[in-house]
Amino acid sequence: MVWNTLIASALLAQSVSAQNMLRFACSQLTVERADPLVTPGQNPAPHTHQIVGGNSFNLTMEPGKYDPPAKSTCTSCTYSEDFSNYWTAALYFKSPENGTFQRVPQYANLGLQQDGGMTVYYMPYSAKNNKMTAFKPGFRMIAGDPATKKNNRASICHRCLGNGEGFAPCDAKDTGELPTKYCPTGIRATVIFPSCWDGKNLDSPDHKSHVAYSNSGGLGTPNCPASHPVSIPQVMYEIMWDTGKYKNTAWYGNGKQPFVYSFGDGVGYGQHGDYLFGWKDDSLQKAMDALPSGKCANANCSVLKVQSGADSMKCKKAQQVVEDVGKSGQWIKELPGGAMVTY
Ligand SMILES: *[C@@H]1O[C@H](CO)[C@@H](O)[C@H](O)[C@H]1NC(C)=O
Ligand SMILES: *[C@@H]1O[C@H](CO)[C@@H](O)[C@H](O)[C@H]1NC(C)=O
Ligand SMILES: *[C@@H]1O[C@H](CO)[C@@H](O)[C@H](O)[C@H]1NC(C)=O
Repeated sequence: MVWNTLIASALLAQSVSAQNMLRFACSQLTVERADPLVTPGQNPAPHTHQIVGGNSFNLTMEPGKYDPPAKSTCTSCTYSEDFSNYWTAALYFKSPENGTFQRVPQYANLGLQQDGGMTVYYMPYSAKNNKMTAFKPGFRMIAGDPATKKNNRASICHRCLGNGEGFAPCDAKDTGELPTKYCPTGIRATVIFPSCWDGKNLDSPDHKSHVAYSNSGGLGTPNCPASHPVSIPQVMYEIMWDTGKYKNTAWYGNGKQPFVYSFGDGVGYGQHGDYLFGWKDDSLQKAMDALPSGKCANANCSVLKVQSGADSMKCKKAQQVVEDVGKSGQWIKELPGGAMVTY
């Protein structure tokens, strides 16, 4: 079962035909200390990211000059015209016994075929009269803030899986912080981006102020503020962290848990997502226009080109920042970049 049928009924009063959305898998492209949005050109960037999408991902991707659909030769996402890049911080287990780290891999979301990476959504909840304006070439944005110490559950949240799941993403059963109990089937991290745009700027100095939430965070409503009047697709990431094997009950409880984000955040409020638009031509606009008709839903959209799970999993990129960020199962003595863990 896919949650969007549930959420669609929850939002039924709002707009009956706004229930279709894109929901698709993007396999791991690479894991490295690169960040073309916040620290362009910097090698290495301050912390490790797990990155998916077009293989033109690079340390520098200048807006308006660097064209992902032209430069990419493959994408790790289901929709083969989507050369966007999507990335978040990586998650590590920090051993409470000896302080060493192991990188936590991601697993495939319900019904999807993928190798690591994440699930990407494009949702219509701020669409007025079913109309959304797709992003323009060069568009990018960030949700969340690695420096924050505040709970921002409406848009950055975690779900403890295997304990009776919740309802809509980032609802009251989810937590802003990493769950402080053992989660038998893993932890799902959700990053919800704003759904309203100022209609002018492809980016802004903080990578945020050109976009806005329609409801102070979380899933949108058709009420974009006057400052940001244009309804854009609401992008959301789900990352399925495979934490189930870390079973020792002594590691959890009383506010404690053993996981830490790559920038040293042992609470989880600072989880964040970066988005860099890269759909070919007007393919995303066509898909958004087709949502109300039902021709386009989840990973099945007749106006878009789809590639097999096997083909999307083949699209990989070698690290440009070559270092050990924690290969599968291996232990590393410190977080790449040496971030201190704070709680
Ligand atoms: C990525 O950037 C490097 C220089 O930093 C450049 O040599 C390379 O061609 C770029 N890759 C692509 C696909 O443009
Ligand atoms: C560190 O502790 C973890 C368990 O928390 C264990 O699996 C690992 O082998 C230990 N490493 C060393 C070097 O003792
Ligand atoms: C895709 O959607 C069409 C309707 O638009 C439906 O007939 C078809 O069964 C769907 N395919 C999959 C794999 O869900």
